[in-house]
Parts: sequence; structure tokens; C-alpha cells
Amino acid sequence: MANVVVVGSQWGDEGKGKVVDWLAARADVVVRFQGGHNAGHTLVVDGVSYKLSLLPSGVVRGTLSIIGNGVVINPWALMEEIDRIGAQGVTITPEVLRIAENACLILPLHSTLDQAREVAAGKGKIGTTGRGIGPAYEDKVGRRAIRVCDLADDATLEMKVDRLLAHHNALLRGLGAEELNGDDLLAELRALAPKLLPYAEPVWLTLDTAYRAGKRILFEGAQGAMLDVDHGTYPFVTSSNTVAGMAAAGSGMGPGRVGYVLGITKAYTTRVGSGPFPTELNDAVGDRIGERGREFGTVTGRKRRCGWFDAVLVRQAVKTGGIDGIALTKLDVLDGMDELKVCIGYELDGTVIEHLPAAVAQQERCVPVYETLEGWQDSTEGARSWAQLPATAVKYVRRIEELIGAPVSLLSTSPEREDTILVHDPFTG
Ligand code: GDP
Ligand code: IMO
Ligand code: MG
Repeated sequence: MANVVVVGSQWGDEGKGKVVDWLAARADVVVRFQGGHNAGHTLVVDGVSYKLSLLPSGVVRGTLSIIGNGVVINPWALMEEIDRIGAQGVTITPEVLRIAENACLILPLHSTLDQAREVAAGKGKIGTTGRGIGPAYEDKVGRRAIRVCDLADDATLEMKVDRLLAHHNALLRGLGAEELNGDDLLAELRALAPKLLPYAEPVWLTLDTAYRAGKRILFEGAQGAMLDVDHGTYPFVTSSNTVAGMAAAGSGMGPGRVGYVLGITKAYTTRVGSGPFPTELNDAVGDRIGERGREFGTVTGRKRRCGWFDAVLVRQAVKTGGIDGIALTKLDVLDGMDELKVCIGYELDGTVIEHLPAAVAQQERCVPVYETLEGWQDSTEGARSWAQLPATAVKYVRRIEELIGAPVSLLSTSPEREDTILVHDPFTG
């Protein structure tokens, strides 16, 4: 298995950025295949923090980085990110970054619609990042999206803007909102074209060439299994498939080439936005985890909801996503706790079940069944070898492996790049 796909196994923010950056030292290409700038991936190198939303997390090392067709791209946000990362000393040129010419764009009208719907939904809101992800994917499957390649052909662009606005202005009329002017949008897109087009190419071809030359490809997922539009806590999910299966379709490679599936897994559970969360802790323990883990969103700055490790959810993610092994992150956040709880099943209407049911109303009624494990007082922060871990921390890790049915391949003990323990190399299986 020469290639590796990194996916989140919970509700996102598991530490994918850190792990991708670390693994990128062993890879030749890093590819994003779904999501958009709803993602916020943080990596820390020698105390310097880099926050990436659209750029693959290999860019900081200078690894060839590809934004695949499955990603929805807000080109203005991308240009801002390129400038921001440039100011940190990471220069992005078409030598380093390639963008799928068939990727769909997120336009300002998408974020406006996303935010308007959230306001209208009131208490029933999804708690989206407000970035227009859902509306952009709707236009993609509705076959009216503007794609990167359209920017190269003005006649097509004009026709597509007309078609897109016919749809959106009908929606806006229905909402009693002001209609959009096609000329303004066209002018913005024309100004953007010369900045974006130098990065555009058929990335499926680049990837095929790399694969045939024996290069190692690292796929970088965004969000997590429980935010998957099919397998997650629908409708409190994002609008793309986040599971490893998407890596193939979202980059233009066959499924046989994707390789080892590495599920990034936090040693406890967090979630941003609304929706069911059986092991959520609305108490001092939850606050403590949130403070120690600095659980504030990278994209929106929202406080993340925190709770105990839910082995049922991760076991489900292992099965639905074909996870071969996990990278367990943020173990250090649990240092100094007397005892730790792990959810091993749910009680639903008097019966114990071992999976999360599909219906949201049932998910809301799931009461966790916990197993209690002993905590550890010694620090695991910054540990770089298995031998540095306290025995009770090792016991916690081993129990998690048993419960989820997948081995730990990597262990992360701080935000820093090198505070990582390799248990077995995903690139060599
Ligand atoms: P992503 O979306 O999966 O890439 O994760 P985020 O970057 O949104 O959130 C993970 C946060 O935890 C970031 O601030 C990371 O710097 C930090 N982090 C990653 N791994 C570890 C770890 O092992 N320990 C601690 N304490 N922090 C970590
Ligand atoms: P990374 O890649 C955590 C959540 C939002 C909301 C739901 C839908 O950093 O792990 P959307 O804007 O996608 O329509 O919002 O999904 N969400 C994330 N939560 N990490 C993310 O990405 C997320 N991307 C979206 O909070 O609940
Ligand atoms: Mg994140």
C-alpha cells in the first residue's frame, strides 16, 4: 500500500492537519478531495502555527499540493489564504499548487444563502460554518455550478452566470430579498480569472503520472465520518462524503489506488455546531477538556462541545469508512484526570445497542453506557516514544484499539510536528 488517505473519524478537528503535515515528509504529493474552506487544519512547526483551509497541509513542507475536483473552491478565500501563508514565508506558486480545472466554485451568493437559511431555521439551525458549502454543492449536483475551467472562456462564463442567476434570483424573490446583478458577478469573475487559471489543470492526469512513476500520494480529508452526508448525523452534517471512498472520486483516481486508510481520532470527542452528541459533557469535566485542549474552532472561533471518547461512533466510522488504522491525537489533554470514561454502547428506550441509529430523534435519545478506566498523573505531553508513556495511558490506548477494532498507527502528544510517535508506518502497511 504505497498511498495513504487521512480522514477524520469523529466530528472533525481531530488533528488531520498535524498528521498530514507530519506524513507529508514521506509523501510526494498531497491531495484534498472534498469539502472547502469550512475546513480549518492547524499545524505547528517549531512554535509557529499555520492555519490552512483550502491549501493541502503539505504546502508548508513544499510538497506538491493538489486541490481535487471534489473540493468546492471559494477562489477569493483561496487567494487570501495564499497571501496569508505567503506572509508566513510559505510561497505558493503553480509549481507547488495545482487545482482541478473541473472543480466547482463557491460564489458570494452561496455564503449569503447559507447564512440566510441558518437565520431562518432559528433553533433548528445546523450550525454551519456559513461558508456556502451546502449551497455550492447543491449547484454542483444541480448541474448549474461555475467551474474553474469556465473562467477561461468568456462566452461560456456569461451563459453560465445567466443560468445560475435565473435559479438563484427565483429563490431570492421567494425570500423577498434583493435580486442579484449578473454583470457585477461577471466582472468579479473576470478579474479573478488571471489569478486562478495559472494553477488549473487536469489533476487526474498529474496524479496518474505520479502514480505510474511510483510516487507516494497522500490524500487529505476534511471534516469527519460523523459529518458525512450519508453516514453522519444527518441533517446535522456537511454536504459532502467525508469517508475515504470519496478520495478516489474527488481526485480522479481509481479506488484501488487510494491505499491505507488512516482515521484521525481524538482521545476524547468534540463537535462544533448543532446535532446529537451522546457523550457530551455539560459540566466542569467538559470545560476542563475544552480548556486543556484549546477547543475553539479554527474557522469560526466557536467553542467546541466536548465529551468522553465514544468508541461506538469510532467503531462505526472504522466500518463505514474502511479505516485500517488510526492516529490517536491529543492524548496529552487527558493528563492528570483521576478517571476516564469511554462509551461502549447506548441505551435506547430500554435496550442496549452497539451502533448509532440513523434517525436523529433516536440519536437524541441514546444514553451512553460507560466503562470507567483509570487516569494517569504523569505527563504525556511531548512524548516521542512509546516508552515515555505512563502504563495507565498505554492501557487506555490499548482498550480503545480493542473497542474500535483498529490498531493505533500513530500517536500525537502535542500540537508540535515532531511530538508524534510512529507505531507502524501507514505507507508501508
Ligand atoms: P483538523 O481540522 O482535524 O486538522 O484539526 P484542527 O487543526 O481544527 O484542530 C486540532 C487542534 O489540536 C489544533 O489546534 C492542533 O494544533 C491541535 N493538536 C493536534 N494534535 C494535538 C495533540 O496531540 N495534542 C494537543 N494538545 N493538541 C493537538
Ligand atoms: P475540519 O476539516 C468540524 C461542521 C459545522 C456544522 C456542519 C455543517 O477542520 O475538521 P458546513 O459549513 O460544512 O455546511 O457545516 O459541519 N463542520 C466542521 N466541524 N471541523 C470541520 O472541518 C468542519 N467543517 C464543517 O460546524 O456543524
Ligand atoms: Mg479543523
